[in-house]
Amino acid sequence: MFRRCLVLAIIALKCRVTLEQYFDISRGQSVPREKVYKEVPGIAQPGAEVVLPGGAWTNDAQDAFFDGSRLCARLRQPDASWRKQCTHVIADQTLKVVDGNFELDGAGEALFQEYTRISYPTDTVPGSWAESARNSRLSGSVLETELQKEDGTWVQTVTSVLFWHFLENIDGTLYIERAPCASLGVCVYSYVLKLDAKDIFCTKAVCDPLGDRDTCCDRVEPCTLITTCDRTQSLVPDLNGWCRDRYCDQILDQDICCVPAAFCDGLQCVTGYVQKPNAYDIQCPNSVCFPDGDRDLCCEQQGSCSLLPYTHEDCDVGEYFNSADLCAQRVCNNVTDLEKCCQRAMPCDIGLNCSHGFLAKPGNENIYCLAAECDIDVHLMVCCDAAAPCSDITCGHGYYQLSDTYCSGTSCNLTLDFDHCCPVSEGCASLADNSCPYGVLSRCDGQVLEGKCIKLQPAIGYWFDFDERCTRDPCEDSVDRLHVCCKQADPCTSLTCPNGYIYKSNIGALTCQFGECNVTTNDLFRCCDTAAHCDTLSCGHGFTPDPLAFDTYCPATTCDINRDRDLCCEPAPLCATAYACPHGFTAWPDTYCDGITCDVDRDRDRCCRPAMPCSALTCPLNYVLRYDTYCQGTTCIESRDLFWCCERGMALSYYRFLPLELRQSGSTVVQMSDFFLYNQQVLVDGYDSAVFYCDPCDTPVNLREEPYNLGDNNGETKWLDYSSNAFFVRLPVAQPAFSYSFVTGNDEPQRDPVRWQLWGSPNNIDWVILHEVKDRTTGLSIVPLDRKTTTGQIQVDVPCYSPTGSYIDNSANITCQEGDLIQHGSNCTPACLPGFTADVDQITCLDGELSPITFACDADAGNGTV
Ligand SMILES: *[C@@H]1O[C@H](CO)[C@@H](O)[C@H](O)[C@H]1NC(C)=O
Ligand SMILES: *[C@@H]1O[C@H](CO)[C@@H](O)[C@H](O)[C@H]1NC(C)=O
Ligand SMILES: *[C@@H]1O[C@H](CO)[C@@H](O)[C@H](O)[C@H]1NC(C)=O
Ligand SMILES: *[C@@H]1O[C@H](CO)[C@@H](O)[C@H](O)[C@H]1NC(C)=O
Ligand SMILES: *[C@@H]1O[C@H](CO)[C@@H](O)[C@H](O)[C@H]1NC(C)=O
Repeated sequence: MFRRCLVLAIIALKCRVTLEQYFDISRGQSVPREKVYKEVPGIAQPGAEVVLPGGAWTNDAQDAFFDGSRLCARLRQPDASWRKQCTHVIADQTLKVVDGNFELDGAGEALFQEYTRISYPTDTVPGSWAESARNSRLSGSVLETELQKEDGTWVQTVTSVLFWHFLENIDGTLYIERAPCASLGVCVYSYVLKLDAKDIFCTKAVCDPLGDRDTCCDRVEPCTLITTCDRTQSLVPDLNGWCRDRYCDQILDQDICCVPAAFCDGLQCVTGYVQKPNAYDIQCPNSVCFPDGDRDLCCEQQGSCSLLPYTHEDCDVGEYFNSADLCAQRVCNNVTDLEKCCQRAMPCDIGLNCSHGFLAKPGNENIYCLAAECDIDVHLMVCCDAAAPCSDITCGHGYYQLSDTYCSGTSCNLTLDFDHCCPVSEGCASLADNSCPYGVLSRCDGQVLEGKCIKLQPAIGYWFDFDERCTRDPCEDSVDRLHVCCKQADPCTSLTCPNGYIYKSNIGALTCQFGECNVTTNDLFRCCDTAAHCDTLSCGHGFTPDPLAFDTYCPATTCDINRDRDLCCEPAPLCATAYACPHGFTAWPDTYCDGITCDVDRDRDRCCRPAMPCSALTCPLNYVLRYDTYCQGTTCIESRDLFWCCERGMALSYYRFLPLELRQSGSTVVQMSDFFLYNQQVLVDGYDSAVFYCDPCDTPVNLREEPYNLGDNNGETKWLDYSSNAFFVRLPVAQPAFSYSFVTGNDEPQRDPVRWQLWGSPNNIDWVILHEVKDRTTGLSIVPLDRKTTTGQIQVDVPCYSPTGSYIDNSANITCQEGDLIQHGSNCTPACLPGFTADVDQITCLDGELSPITFACDADAGNGTV
């Protein structure tokens, strides 16, 4: 029951509708309450009961909502879409939908007349209900009646009803019936009611002329089927017209279907054409003129603006000459069409945005694209100037050039444009990887011999310049590190090692640390080794360091004698020719001085060796060692050195000076300050500890003028003897005396000796005269008159020892009869054992040399066997 109510309670029957159960009127389906709530905010509380307003609006409505005064629903729009609309409903107003909006429905009166026309009773409500009702009374819109229920009982019913409703009694309740098509009365234009329209029902309680059209109506035939129009009268079938009924009646329908043929002046010519000037006189073949079919009949082509002898210049400022447009007529008029063809041109400031790299020309609001629209391809240069590229600015170090970026003007202004053209680039130090490749050694310089590179390119090294800036921000490793931050370091070969340094042996593979080689930095040690100084080279035999090479270095870390000798050394002078060994040393063969000139002190031990003193030799008879003499070698060789070391002389321990006559003849008081004995011009060895004495003595009693004053080398002291006694000198060791001198006393020249004898003795027993001044004249010439003045050295006459007996068979123990000592110039008489006779009579001693040297003792005749 309730469900039927839902289905049928579309119109204003008192059918209870709760707001909890809205429904889709057009489709008869309930919709969920939630949906209604959502779409209808502010609705009445659930449970309220309302009655929907009546009227035809429901034919075009969905999702209706009514709160008693306000009705909202989605209404069908002319374009068939649905749109929500609302309206206020007062009392029993009925509504309809016109152009998608609610409007009051006044259709009731019209329909009432239709019903009357098709003879429905107007005093009652139509429908089947009447067959099961009694005592009905319709007063106004209120129908009172008794209805028979299905069980045959009767029930009193009062209902409000619109009189064109068809009602049905269902078990004692009135329901609205679907309206019969006949209730439409007439169909829409070009349709007619079906013949059985009374028996066909519309879909709703009221028929919808459009919605129920196809159910209720048949199409009539179009006027085009009329073939009987009077063409002589220029009558033609109305192409838009319809006959009266389902089938055209060639005669009856002529009045509505035959119309005058259309004239061209009603035709809108297709683009590019205008009506012919006499279009109002030209009739088309049909009731309408067709733009295409009748084009050539009615229209003529417009002339092209391009036929006019004009250009853009002939148009006003702000206009362009549109040669693609058409003149007003077939023939262009060079006055009126100029205006038509000159059309508004687009000003640059509105019509064109300059593309990247271009700038609007100044005053571009007064510059026009000579066209309706600006076309960037055509008008770019009309409206815009090319901006100067940022590349016109040299950003310089630390900034990077933005590509495809432009200055703010047609030329760059450093002040204005630098900042946006040249962003600061990031520093290389920001790169995570600071490594650079190290040099390439093995690049061959093209010269390959037997598979080996014979000339290597110098190495190229790189160093990471932390102070450098990348070409962008942030730095990009692949671009900046190797090509910007890593800088090429010069090969070490570009560095000149300073004096004292040499290239390292692998110099070709080495590079400096940073860019250009700088010898004051670490590069020195990267590229160079310390060269060995010449002074580390031992020049070797025969060579000596070149003094000019004090700042000279070998061309390597160590000096090499073969390579560097000429650099560092000079030939050394040969000792043998350039050095004289000093006394006591002997030249050493094949030695060189230790410098380019010989130095006495420095080179002594190099050129010389200590010579062996002659004392290593034993001098032969009558020879004594030369004073302070050395053999001519490091050892003494008798055959070579004997007579070098020994000279004729006699080493004696005792000497005696015997005055014979004084300057004052007859006087005996002799005096002398000092007395010297010399061996080879120097005082004899032991002179300092020689003992001077007299025996007998006749010296003053005061003991101040004793002989020892003679040895004190003091001119103020003297020896004096009143009786001209001799004085003696005793040497601690025997020494040969080759000369002697004395110093005159401090006073009394008459006390100077002028004749004297000097004696010597080896043993204080045997004495021999060593020197003798025999006459005054000689003595006066020797002894100076001046006091405390020396005589100068007086040569001794060297005496001889007798020949050595042990070498002479059968000689006497004393080989000379005169004794063992023979005075210079005296003779030795050889002495043999008894029974033997010397083979020489005499041997003479001349200055220490016996002549002949020796003798032999021959056995006497008859006594010759020993
Ligand atoms: C305009 O047309 C007339 C007639 O054709 C002609 O005489 C005249 O020279 C034209 N004017 C120009 C500016 O072309
Ligand atoms: C020029 O650029 C402005 C701003 O982007 C835009 O609104 C306008 O439509 C552009 N004009 C043309 C002709 O492209
Ligand atoms: C560059 O621009 C500055 C700031 O606007 C201006 O003062 C200067 O005259 C300009 N220089 C040139 C050469 O145009
Ligand atoms: C070499 O290095 C020194 C010290 O670092 C510096 O003072 C000098 O200017 C550098 N010389 C050159 C030519 O770069
Ligand atoms: C001479 O020499 C011999 C043998 O040596 C010796 O016996 C003798 O006494 C010596 N005569 C004298 C006088 O010394």
